Amino acid sequence: MDNRIQRFGVSIEPELLKKFDALIEHKGYSNRSEAIRDLIRDYLVEAAWQNTKGLAVGTVTLVYNHHQHELADKLTELQHHYHDQIISVLHVHLDAHNCLEVLVVKGLRESILEIADRLGSIKGVKHCKFVITTTGEDL
Ligand code: NI
Repeated sequence: MDNRIQRFGVSIEPELLKKFDALIEHKGYSNRSEAIRDLIRDYLVEAAWQNTKGLAVGTVTLVYNHHQHELADKLTELQHHYHDQIISVLHVHLDAHNCLEVLVVKGLRESILEIADRLGSIKGVKHCKFVITTTGEDL
């Protein structure tokens, strides 16, 4: 396989390109190519994730009020239940009431999705976002 960088042309409306250029400049990209490569990788990871039956890695981000009755206990109990899949937890005390937790999860697709769903549906959790990523081996 030829591993040299390849170039390709893209047809695009000027207005769309203008918005794209403004966004990638704001994000700190030095050129369009790098931004487009990142978008393609993200697209491929997403597609691979949709099809995967095997091992997956990701993060679950939670925001909650720790004063909410029994909430912290429920979260801890659930996290202990999934101790095999939750490989790291970051906890940040955002202010006097609110906590941010980021869990790094690794396991079968179904089981880590289940963790995100169960944590996110606990009463008092204000926000729960699951992001799938890749081990990087296939990119
Ligand atoms: Ni806290």
